Amino acid sequence: MIENRKLEHIKICADKDVNSHHNYWNDVVLKHETIPKVDMENVELSVEFLGKKLNYPIIIDAMTGGHKVAKLINENLAAAAEELGIGMAVGSQRAAIENTKLEDTYSVVAKYDMPLRIGNLGAPQFALGYGEEEVKKAIEMIDAHAIDIHFNYLQEAIQPEGDTKVGNLRENLAELARKYKLIAKETGAGISRNAAEFFKNAGFKAIDVSGVSGTSFAAVEYYRGGEEGKLFWDWGLPAPYCILSLKDLNMPLIGSGGIRNGLDAAKAIALGADVVGIARILLKPAMKSKEDVIKVLERIIKELRIAVFLIGAESVKELKNAKYVVRGELAQWLRHC
Ligand SMILES: Cc1cc2nc3c(=O)[nH]c(=O)nc-3n(C[C@H](O)[C@H](O)[C@H](O)COP(=O)(O)O)c2cc1C
Repeated sequence: MIENRKLEHIKICADKDVNSHHNYWNDVVLKHETIPKVDMENVELSVEFLGKKLNYPIIIDAMTGGHKVAKLINENLAAAAEELGIGMAVGSQRAAIENTKLEDTYSVVAKYDMPLRIGNLGAPQFALGYGEEEVKKAIEMIDAHAIDIHFNYLQEAIQPEGDTKVGNLRENLAELARKYKLIAKETGAGISRNAAEFFKNAGFKAIDVSGVSGTSFAAVEYYRGGEEGKLFWDWGLPAPYCILSLKDLNMPLIGSGGIRNGLDAAKAIALGADVVGIARILLKPAMKSKEDVIKVLERIIKELRIAVFLIGAESVKELKNAKYVVRGELAQWLRHC
C-alpha cells in the first residue's frame, strides 16, 4: 500500500497544480546596493552546515523512495548533489523499514559522495511504536549524517488512511534526540514557535521549516480523495514567517517551502535561514536525468550569486545582514503574530 501511495504522490506532484495559492516569498523585497562590494565572480557561496562544507547553501529536500520510479529519482538527485557539492535528503524511509526489499530505492544515494546525506522518518510513526531500532536502520540504510523527523499532521489528517495519533511522541523523540542527529522538519505547513522551542530543548540539531508557499500536502491528498484537502489547501504558517519567528532561537535553519529560484533562496537567507531546501521543482527534472536536475540547480545558483552581488555582500554569510522590506500578506502575519 505504501509503495502505491509513493507512486501516486510522485504522479500528483509532477502533473497537478498542488501549489499553495499565495507565495509569500513575493512579499519580501531585498534592498539594492548601488555599488557592489566585490566582483560578481568572487562572491563566496559556500557555507558550513551541521559541520559539513556545502559548495552552495542548498539541500535537495526530502521527496521519495519506496518504488522503482523513486529509485531513479533518488539516483538522479544524488548524482546532482555529488557533482555540485550540496546536501540531499531522501523521502520517508518507512516503506523500506516495513519491506526491506525496497531498501535499494533509498540506499542508491549512498553510492554518491555528497557532503550532507539526510535520512527521513515520519513523526506520527514515533507515536505508534517506532523508536531507536528504526532510527538506526534509517541511518544505516543510506549512511546518513543526520535524520529528518517530518511532522506532517496536516497531510495525515486529510489522508483517508492517515495516522493521526500523537501519544507519547514528545517523550519518545526527546529520548532519541539525545543520541542521534535529528532535524525537525515540516512538509509544507511550517514549524511553529512552540514546537521549535520543544525541539531546541530536546536537543534536535536543526529545523527545516517547510512552510506555506510551495507544495501543499492538503492539495496532494485532495487529489487522492481526501475531500477536506480543498478547505485546508492553504493551511499553515508562511515559510518566511517561520524563519523570522524562529531565528532568535539560534538553531541551524533550513528555509524551505516554495523556493523557486535563487532570489527566493537569497530572501530566505537574508531573513535568517542558513541554507535552503528545495523539493518539488526538482521532481520532474529528476524523473529525466541528473543533467536536468543540475540545469535547474545551476540556474538557481546563478540567480543567488546575482542577488548576493546586488545587495552589496561578498558572501552568503554577509547576505544574512541584508536589508529587506516585508509587504502584503506577510506583513499582516508579522503584525498579528
Ligand atoms: C513528491 C514529494 C514527496 C515528498 N515526500 C516527503 C517525505 O517523504 N518526507 C518529508 O519530510 N517531506 C516530503 N516532502 C516535502 C518536501 O520535503 C518539502 O518540505 C515540501 O515539498 C515543501 O517544499 P517545496 O515547496 O519546495 O516542494 C515531499 C514533497 C514532494 C513534492
